[in-house]
Amino acid sequence: MVKPGTRLDPPPTPPYTRGMTEFSPPGPLGTDVAAAAERAHVLAQALPFLRRYAGATIVVKYGGHAMGEEHLAEEFGRDIALLKQVGVNTVIVHGGGPQINTMLKRLAVQSTFIDGLRVTDAAAMEVVEMVLAGTVNKYVSNLITRAGALAVGICGKDGGMIRARKVERTRKNPETGVEEKIDLGFVGEPAAIDVRVIHALTGGGLVPVIAPVGVDADGQTYNINADTVAAAVAGALNATRLLMLTDVPGVLDKDKNLIAELTLADVKARIADGTITGGMIPKVENCVEAVTLGVKGAVILDGRVPHACLLELFTEGGTGTIIRR
Ligand SMILES: Nc1ncnc2c1ncn2[C@@H]1O[C@H](COP(=O)(O)OP(=O)(O)OP(=O)(O)O)[C@@H](O)[C@H]1O
Ligand SMILES: [Mg+2]
Repeated sequence: MVKPGTRLDPPPTPPYTRGMTEFSPPGPLGTDVAAAAERAHVLAQALPFLRRYAGATIVVKYGGHAMGEEHLAEEFGRDIALLKQVGVNTVIVHGGGPQINTMLKRLAVQSTFIDGLRVTDAAAMEVVEMVLAGTVNKYVSNLITRAGALAVGICGKDGGMIRARKVERTRKNPETGVEEKIDLGFVGEPAAIDVRVIHALTGGGLVPVIAPVGVDADGQTYNINADTVAAAVAGALNATRLLMLTDVPGVLDKDKNLIAELTLADVKARIADGTITGGMIPKVENCVEAVTLGVKGAVILDGRVPHACLLELFTEGGTGTIIRR
């Protein structure tokens, strides 16, 4: 018995071992043969989609939450390697919120919060960079590289890829009711994306894995929301698709049913009426930003579903919520 997918070299002599089972015709189709036929059928159906995406650029945002489970993470790595193998230009942007929180705790770095938002001071920024551009970035590039593609981890500082500016936030003072500025420290947003490093990597057949850390004109480091970086990178690359992997099936309506497609106007309405809240707000807003920048479609989908990216790209209909112009 040979493991599925094992290349047999030199070719075996009969009875053939064809990767799945002893080949023993004639007779009724065994379950293994039926399974093989099913696999071939699925592959054949993927052909038009393989054609559609060959040479296209796909940006995948891999969330800190979707990273949790080891076997899913390995599957994610294999899916990205497969996309690369079939000629899709794949660029990964990853988050790492849970991993940052764990390390801040471990190193006993004290943080202050304003309205539940962490203030990223110099000490916290050091940990954020260490975790995002270090541990998590190398973890993700290793996942993909081990699956057979050549992934290279970089952050926005490398090649000056992400020029950042400080995020200006305001809030209504609960006592006076007056709108006032709040200072969240080194929390930034992308001011410009220089795609030269990304093109150099993809042009060389590599998969860029980008940590959401940017730098301003003075060389100051900023932590940037990964959804925002993914949208900015997808826009700058004029990507065909932006895939936002998360931990829910997509955008859900008030009855928790999946919304298959949202227009730009729908997004505004669903935020206004409170259907979309929390971490989903920046996600849909960044999808809108991406399609406004020229990305053909942005999809929010469940990263916990095995082969989420393949299902989305290579089957009719896809799985999550698509936002397009
Ligand atoms: N209408 C909605 N449909 C689906 N999810 C929603 C909706 N409104 C709010 N949410 C919340 O948004 C969450 C997804 O955003 P969240 O920022 O938590 O995850 P992420 O961006 O995938 O991970 P990370 O921020 O670590 O990269 C969901 O888990 C859900 O709790
Ligand atoms: Mg988020």
